[in-house]
Amino acid sequence: MVCLGNICRSPLAEGILKSKVNSTHFFIDSAGTSNFHDGDLPDSRSILIAKKYGIDITNQRSRPFKKNDFDVFDIIYVMDQSNYQNIINLARDEKDKKKVKLILSENAASKISEVPDPYYDSERGFDQVFKMLDEVCEIISIKLNDANK
Ligand code: 4NP
Repeated sequence: MVCLGNICRSPLAEGILKSKVNSTHFFIDSAGTSNFHDGDLPDSRSILIAKKYGIDITNQRSRPFKKNDFDVFDIIYVMDQSNYQNIINLARDEKDKKKVKLILSENAASKISEVPDPYYDSERGFDQVFKMLDEVCEIISIKLNDANK
């Protein structure tokens, strides 16, 4: 799960997907395209909204995405087009590029294609981001669990 700062959106996506899949079969992590918040806890508003829905993300720390992540992960979900371009620019070959997907592309019913950056937004923005990530992670978890049967 990748966003810009790895403190607002991708920590929520990581926490939500982890809550829906069996962690012995799937390794889920998140990272930022920047190192702005390297080592930081998730944004307090992300921590709070996750907690409201019963998910603890306080074990997470921000880290920048690194090229080696292309070797470790099968799928790299990005939150918006800017993240997409930044990660594609790090790809070494077509195989790497094929791993990168806009997360909302997994939700055919979604009216929007990007998860908006709530960093400069209000608490309400975080609630909306939580709900759209929860909906798409439910779809992703069904796909992953089916693939693992
Ligand atoms: P995120 O949100 O990419 O969802 O973690 C942001 C967090 C920090 C900044 C930008 C976006 N920043 O510019 O510091």
